[in-house]
Amino acid sequence: MSDDDTAAAGDGSAANRMEGPDVIACEQCPELVESRSRIVDGVGPDDADLLLLGEAPGANEDEQGEPFVGRSGSILDEALRDAGLARDDVRITNCVRCRPPENRDPHTEELANCRGHLERELAVVDPKLVVTLGKVPSEHLLDRSIAVTKAAGDVVDVRLGGRGYRAVVSVHPAATLYDGSQRETFFETIARAAEIAGVGSGGDEDGGQSSLGQF
Ligand code: URA
Repeated sequence: MSDDDTAAAGDGSAANRMEGPDVIACEQCPELVESRSRIVDGVGPDDADLLLLGEAPGANEDEQGEPFVGRSGSILDEALRDAGLARDDVRITNCVRCRPPENRDPHTEELANCRGHLERELAVVDPKLVVTLGKVPSEHLLDRSIAVTKAAGDVVDVRLGGRGYRAVVSVHPAATLYDGSQRETFFETIARAAEIAGVGSGGDEDGGQSSLGQF
């Protein structure tokens, strides 16, 4: 491992370290250090064209060490499949990498503490498009308050860590569980995102990046 592959993140102390897009150690949020079983890093290719950004790990993610593996993950997988994509084709990560207690929303300070990790992951992956899954990641990236059900499908330019990215606002996959009318919105947004990023059925005739053979 070269020095280029590692970086002090967050407060820059030795306790907070990244390797490529992964956080190896971080102790910045005492309450989250207490509540987590592990740090849940992003998954998927580190050169993915499409990056999906959630809020924070829940109980399943904390247990398995992977973002979106619970019920919302199944819906996300389904929407990706409809768009001609397999989970392994895209990068999936969260604004905050440690499970908040009682699955509460991450606090502003925790989002701020984890922002350097996200900046670094985005800089490494350099996706063509970021999809913000729900209110917390949408407001975190766009830096303003957002009614996601109204804004879903909007394409916006955002800045993070001094770099520009294109993003699409989406409702959270879990919203489809509580409100059936959100299902179409969510699936259409993911299909539109694939089209903009030029992947899956939104890509070339061969299905772009897709490795759907695994389904
Ligand atoms: N919800 C999120 O926002 N992220 C996850 O990883 C799981 C559920």
